[in-house]
Amino acid sequence: MNDFNGQVVLITGAASGIGLAIAHKLLTDGAQVGLLDFNESALQKTFGKYGPDALSVGVDVTDEARVNDAILKVHAQFGKIDALINCVGITGITNVHSHEVSSENLHKVFHVNFMGSFYTSKAVLPLMLARNYGRILHIASIAGKEGNAGMLAYSASKAAVIAMAKVQGKEYAERGITVNALAPAVIQTPLVDAMPDAQVKYMTDKIPMKRCGTLNEAANLAAYIISPQNSFTTGFTFDLSGGRATY
Ligand code: NAI
Repeated sequence: MNDFNGQVVLITGAASGIGLAIAHKLLTDGAQVGLLDFNESALQKTFGKYGPDALSVGVDVTDEARVNDAILKVHAQFGKIDALINCVGITGITNVHSHEVSSENLHKVFHVNFMGSFYTSKAVLPLMLARNYGRILHIASIAGKEGNAGMLAYSASKAAVIAMAKVQGKEYAERGITVNALAPAVIQTPLVDAMPDAQVKYMTDKIPMKRCGTLNEAANLAAYIISPQNSFTTGFTFDLSGGRATY
């Protein structure tokens, strides 16, 4: 498949899990890709084989100035940015009820999950507006639609990401730019491996298909959402939940 020939895509959180799977798919399908993650050595190790089509930049997405520099570097290398996919996300401390939540941890989760996605989208939007074309995908979570008990910081930060996609979708609707979110239920990645078993069981028990989603399923849907073919859907949160939250 060469659907993404000539397309330049920026992916955050590309060193692991869903971001890594999406990056492999898009590179295989012909895209040039800018990869942002604070785990720069993992990026180099994983994507070195793609040569100049993959530019790895080590950056913490909570550092706005460095995010801006990283995005300018990707833009300078490839000459444009057609699409941005925000995959960075952390759960923070889970399996705690709201009265036990650490305010400091809640701030940290919001900073990474919401502000990180805000900073990257703020930086790419002027580049997209200049060309009257762009695709932005924020990876949210089913937790942001449903609210997972024991995951206040994560659920609320992902609800904020969903709201950002709705706002940005409307703001740029007449400028050739679509902004959408994706709400996966449980996809088996290192993020899920790091969670307490009880918290993972709570989530998989609620999936009507009674299984985790696969990385391929996530990568295929993400690729469609940021493709030129997805031209009349914006501000929407795509479902990837095995039937759990189809609204
Ligand atoms: P992961 O933990 O496998 O990968 C996250 C990547 O983000 C890692 O490479 C990590 O180095 C990077 N990262 C973390 N904080 C960073 C920061 N401040 N700056 C730069 N890089 C940073 O996670 P996974 O499972 O692939 O999740 C990807 C996205 O999908 C996240 O936003 C997550 O919330 C969301 N999601 C995942 C689900 C799942 O079941 N795996 C379910 C629903 C949503």
